Amino acid sequence: GRSVRVALLGCGTVGSEVVRLLTEQADELGARAGAPVELAGIAVRRPDKHPELPQDLLTADAAALVESDVDVVVELVGGIEPVRSWLLTALRKGKSVVTANKALLSEYSAELSEAADAAGADLYFEAAVAGAIPLLRPLRESLAGDRITKVMGIVNGTTNFILSAMDSTGAGYAETLDEASRLGYAEADPTADVDGYDAASKAAILASLAFHSRVTAADVHREGISSVTASDIAAAKALGRTVKLLAICERVTADDGAESVSARVHPVMLERSHPLAGVGGAFNAVFVEADAAGELMFYGQGAGGAPTASAVLGDLVAVARNRVLGGRGPRESAHANLPVRPMGQT
Ligand code: NDP
Ligand code: HSE
Repeated sequence: GRSVRVALLGCGTVGSEVVRLLTEQADELGARAGAPVELAGIAVRRPDKHPELPQDLLTADAAALVESDVDVVVELVGGIEPVRSWLLTALRKGKSVVTANKALLSEYSAELSEAADAAGADLYFEAAVAGAIPLLRPLRESLAGDRITKVMGIVNGTTNFILSAMDSTGAGYAETLDEASRLGYAEADPTADVDGYDAASKAAILASLAFHSRVTAADVHREGISSVTASDIAAAKALGRTVKLLAICERVTADDGAESVSARVHPVMLERSHPLAGVGGAFNAVFVEADAAGELMFYGQGAGGAPTASAVLGDLVAVARNRVLGGRGPRESAHANLPVRPMGQT
């Protein structure tokens, strides 16, 4: 049969690892997908800066690549425009989309998933929250028969890397942020990490999936770590505590029984014995509470090229299989339209 033709948009920290794994594991991925998975083109901003990539695949014209004869678009550029337009075009033409772009999804996931549904296309984004950790599929699929009441955890690797270093070695904030950027953890504009925007985007995605609701980044109360000082960390330490930036998404039931959703991101002083207190470096960890399941914990590498590429490739195999075998996913469950409480109020 025909191969599944993939357009890669963006080949930086994550995209370059996707190319590496796609090339090294071509045979296995093709076997799992049911047809060869073929890289048909790679769009970057500056093709001349990428001598390491196959030159015949490179282009600076992402829009044209999306419109070309490809089945799947993997988007690893980031930001809202022009990416939103490219992905809407792809979905409307029935092409499957895999993206790690939490900034885009936390504002436009309703528009994107409606476009996907209308055209019978796939929209997968496991890599957008908590890097390598399988988290969105469990929330969406494995727990679909349960009633989730809370999702809480560390969802930003950069700020966890900074807070962990400040706590363990007393390292300064600025030098540690530079190291997080060098290691490929930080966003292109790291204020998205340190001011909590990235974690707020992820909280919106998590709350939407967990509570079958529509939560956008603007609904999430947000406080970052830029005001956390070395003396705050020392004071926490003296109390047997450590500072972590947490995303907290809850189902809130009012006295009259009316339910709503609340999501917030802010630094929390945790007891050292708390399981989240020991999560170091760029690792992420997320607790989920559900009525029947009880407490679940998800843990692993939350940022970086290879861990994020792992989640991207898992999605790519899923969309390729859907192309080959028929079927599509992930279907959104009908939305319960739980009201969202303004700015994380509980
Ligand atoms: P990088 O900044 O490393 O890479 C971005 C890529 O996009 C570069 O190859 C750049 O080209 C390309 N690009 C930028 N603008 C355009 C354009 N107009 N047309 C074509 N290509 C363009 O980002 P990351 O790999 O770190 O992140 C990519 C996405 O993944 C983002 O949405 C990010 O939020 C998300 N993400 C990142 C994680 C991480 O740990 N890094 C983890 C989870 C998600 P050029 O190379 O020429 O500059
Ligand atoms: N900048 C993000 C982080 C990348 O540090 O968590 C992973 O989404």
